[in-house]
Amino acid sequence: MNDVPRSEPLLFAPLELRSVTLPNRVVIPPMCVYAAKDGMPNDWHLVHYGKFATGGVGLIIGEATAVEERGRITPGDIGLWRDDQVAAHRRLTDFLKGEGCVPGVQLAHAGRRASSQPPFHGGRSLTAEDERRLGYVAWQAVAPSPVPEHNDSPIPAELDSADIKAIVDAFAAGARRALEAGYEVAEIHGAHGYLLHEFLSPAVNRRDDAYGGDREGRMRLPLEVTEAVRREWPADKPLIFRVSAVDGEGEGAWLLDDTLVLCRELGERGVDVIDCSSGGIRGPATAAVVPRGPGYQVPFAEAIKRQTGLTTMAVGLITEARQAEAILAAGQADLIAVGREMLDDPNWTLRAANELGYGGAPYAAWPPNYGWWLERRARTVAMFKDAG
Ligand SMILES: Cc1cc2nc3c(=O)[nH]c(=O)nc-3n(C[C@H](O)[C@H](O)[C@H](O)COP(=O)(O)O)c2cc1C
Repeated sequence: MNDVPRSEPLLFAPLELRSVTLPNRVVIPPMCVYAAKDGMPNDWHLVHYGKFATGGVGLIIGEATAVEERGRITPGDIGLWRDDQVAAHRRLTDFLKGEGCVPGVQLAHAGRRASSQPPFHGGRSLTAEDERRLGYVAWQAVAPSPVPEHNDSPIPAELDSADIKAIVDAFAAGARRALEAGYEVAEIHGAHGYLLHEFLSPAVNRRDDAYGGDREGRMRLPLEVTEAVRREWPADKPLIFRVSAVDGEGEGAWLLDDTLVLCRELGERGVDVIDCSSGGIRGPATAAVVPRGPGYQVPFAEAIKRQTGLTTMAVGLITEARQAEAILAAGQADLIAVGREMLDDPNWTLRAANELGYGGAPYAAWPPNYGWWLERRARTVAMFKDAG
């Protein structure tokens, strides 16, 4: 019986997406760090993302990367709206690839949520006081309709059809620059109350032209953006779309049935993976409408996977190795994104390898620069325990 090979954990099974092979199923989801100036990733970003790469993560999807300057959430966001921003991204992707990690970009436009304070400075719309306090200068946000987020928020400018065309072009140009910057995977941000989600939402999109009205009209811009990005993004590289699977209840809400229709359309346009988040059209960008508990958004990844046949990524309070493994084993999702838990422990993936017995001996899967020492230390500690 001892000769029966022990199966490797699913969390460490590679995944092929088009011509890109993810070395394992662990993903860093996009997480803004609000540390950039003029949209440029800097040393802070290199160290921040570098820690996850040396920590064994398979795919890092970088934070929301603005495709237009006015599409930044805050002045600290990174971007790819100009050609001279490419080199700073390249420095990041070179390092991540050197560590065996796949670098991904999240192409984003903040819509009416642009011109905001970073969350740790309040997260509200920038005011003149922020210019005095933080040196942050407010700018005009745009949206499908002039519907402010809060009663006291500035009214966003309604996009006309020329602006909409410019936004589609900006996403395409962002994808072209992301490719030049060395990214291997692109994700379109269609969630959390930002521009593309605002177009989907009947509560925010009050347009009566081809980009509003019924669900087909409200889906038009996200689908045109997807087509434009897919044209720019090479056929051998994977494309992900992040959805807010549900964003409320009752009239005016975007519901799971809407998401299933959207996902089928996205699949037909060459989207490979659906990144399954929720919420954000009201309240903080990542406020979910389902009660938060361990794996609270996994049912969305499962429903989308089962009902559309698309590959899905689960995200949201997945913090334990065995929890992640169980999600994969139950066929609820194909990829596991671990966000805030990685801020707490960038070596989460390597610890998961130890816990799930991947690679045989503890620390076998770790970079030898750390693993060699830690394996010896573990033996020493065990010897003392045995002696005691
Ligand atoms: C600091 C921080 C920044 C975030 N920035 C983004 C972002 O840029 N784009 C995005 O789609 N989601 C963003 N999110 C949401 C995360 O990608 C993720 O969906 C969320 O944190 C839930 O996963 P978790 O429980 O593993 O942290 C952010 C979350 C945090 C904590």
